[in-house]
Amino acid sequence: MKRTFVSTMAIGIVIAVALLAVKASWAQELVAYNVVDEISIPDPLTADPGDPEKGREVAVDRKKGNCLACHIMPIPEQSFHGEIGPDLSDVGGRYDIGELRLRVVNPKLLNPDTMMPAFYRIDDFHRVGKKFQGKTILQPQEVEDLLAYLMTLQQ
Ligand code: HEC
Repeated sequence: MKRTFVSTMAIGIVIAVALLAVKASWAQELVAYNVVDEISIPDPLTADPGDPEKGREVAVDRKKGNCLACHIMPIPEQSFHGEIGPDLSDVGGRYDIGELRLRVVNPKLLNPDTMMPAFYRIDDFHRVGKKFQGKTILQPQEVEDLLAYLMTLQQ
């Protein structure tokens, strides 16, 4: 009887450890990137080039970029454009793609107090909702698609 109890406990512990290992592997791994001169991330996060059409959708999607909450962009079919951040209508002419990548990946590196979210960073804040813990707002390919779209904004 006692032996059964002990071995049941042992099996329970093995299962618990295995489940923890599975849970840990669910946590997202960030693609490594280099910040150059504190202003740019010159290398793309993915091997596939960004698709500007998809990037435009990422910018509009309220659960993804939601850029229009704070920025004016040349997206006339959306009625509301916020003005908390600068107008992005010509942003592709003002920055190169590496500078834009840094601004999308983690604008806090340039301005720790910015209201702009870091779209490719795992937040270490304790107040992040459970759903978002250990997750980036955008996937690497979504970041590259978005950048391809921003580069078309030359006005
Ligand atoms: C909550 C508001 C907010 C959201 C959402 C937001 N931004 Fe921003 N963004 C800002 C602010 C404010 C600035 C001004 C710079 C600063 O605060 O450091 C800025 C600056 C920028 C800049 C630099 C512009 C310049 O002229 O210097 C780019 C590029 C940019 N944002 C892109 C984006 C994109 C792309 C998205 C969507 C994926 C986005 N932002 C979402 C608030 C926001």
